[in-house]
Amino acid sequence: MTEPTPTPDASSGLLFTPVTLGPLTLRNRSIRSAAFEGMCQGNAPTPMLRDYHASVARGGIGMTTLAYAAVCRSGLSFPHQLWMRPEVVPALREITDEIHRAGAKASIQLGHCGNMSKPAMAGCTPVSASTGFNLYSPTFVRGLRAGELPALARSFGEAVRMARDAGFDAVEIHAGHGYLISQFLSPYTNHRRDAYGGTLENRMRFMQMCIENTLEAAGSDLAVLVKINMHDGFSSGMQTADCLRVASELERLGAHALVLSAGFVSRAPMEVMRGSMPIRSMSYYMKRGLFRFFARHFGRILVPDRPFCEGYFLDEALQFRRALRLPLVYVGGLVSRSKIEEVLGCGFEAVQMARALICEPDFINRLRQGEERCACTHANYCIARMYSQEMACHRHCTLPPALQRELERAERKEAGRR
Ligand SMILES: Cc1cc2nc3c(=O)[nH]c(=O)nc-3n(C[C@H](O)[C@H](O)[C@H](O)COP(=O)(O)O)c2cc1C
Ligand code: SF4
Repeated sequence: MTEPTPTPDASSGLLFTPVTLGPLTLRNRSIRSAAFEGMCQGNAPTPMLRDYHASVARGGIGMTTLAYAAVCRSGLSFPHQLWMRPEVVPALREITDEIHRAGAKASIQLGHCGNMSKPAMAGCTPVSASTGFNLYSPTFVRGLRAGELPALARSFGEAVRMARDAGFDAVEIHAGHGYLISQFLSPYTNHRRDAYGGTLENRMRFMQMCIENTLEAAGSDLAVLVKINMHDGFSSGMQTADCLRVASELERLGAHALVLSAGFVSRAPMEVMRGSMPIRSMSYYMKRGLFRFFARHFGRILVPDRPFCEGYFLDEALQFRRALRLPLVYVGGLVSRSKIEEVLGCGFEAVQMARALICEPDFINRLRQGEERCACTHANYCIARMYSQEMACHRHCTLPPALQRELERAERKEAGRR
């Protein structure tokens, strides 16, 4: 008589083993990646933001990350974006309490939008490494004076102290995707001739100051993750070799883990997330006016497609794995249990996911119960609406027919690529 094939236990495997990142231990190796929720009002958290992260925590995640908090007012892009200041600490504390009650840990992404800031929100002309015009925002940009940089770097430390007061277990510094730290790192946006421009050593100096302030404020009990680019995504930006040097420098400075991503919002936005941007959906939610007209008619040129495939950053991330010793977090195109196990099997300490958890906040529990893949179709509606609406997945919305048709077309295109 032949033995029956044992049913594989979905709750075993690398995903459901604990992992330690600096002073922090997670119950499993899944992290909800920083993905802008747009659930703030007046730049302060709302109950909706609390309820979304509580649902991800109840859904089994190891740690969930609140996205995209500006460390000071000049770093703001949107009215529905979080701005770290003492008044928001009690509301953030309610969120971390809910996350902890569900057994997960809480992280917050801290950054500064630099040339992506909006004058009305930032209360000043947007600032960056160098003076110029950001076509994507679109806005004039003022190059920061060297004397302004220490105070800006200190605001990272101040934001970390507020994160601790609010009960967070970790902070994630945003040093990628073409935001302020990344604008200093990239030769595309940094044309300075002083100690902060020119060579890579100089271009890393502002990042070093921000990380030193962060680590000092984090002390011995708050984990510090840094999200970086492995490349910017175009020839005049940062390439892999330089990004490897940035990663080594962050290891030397004492970051507890790096999150490996790529792309540059003002030049190669879909490099970050891959697939196509549903332009009609994006312009639909914009206020009427010139920018909406521009987005509708020139969006395809401004936001070109980049092909999606599952685990699209894995090959490049492996180069970083081989070169570095500190814990590394993989992010980019994870939607199935088999790929998650493959990535963890390659030596990454943890995985981050955004869209899988926008589509199914309880995706981790589903994996534990034996499900193999989430239902995300990568039509990217969630990305299209994030600039003006709160985060939502099109699978949970009733949409006007024209948007529905656009997304169905995108879904067919993505399905054909699989
Ligand atoms: C709606 C949406 C908003 C995002 N906002 C942010 C953000 O605020 N900060 C960030 O670092 N990345 C952001 N991302 C990128 C994700 O964190 C992640 O790097 C990317 O989506 C790839 O992961 P995924 O394939 O699991 O979605 C966002 C992604 C999505 C879909
Ligand atoms: S809107 Fe589309 S891409 Fe975004 S989470 Fe939902 S299914 Fe995935």
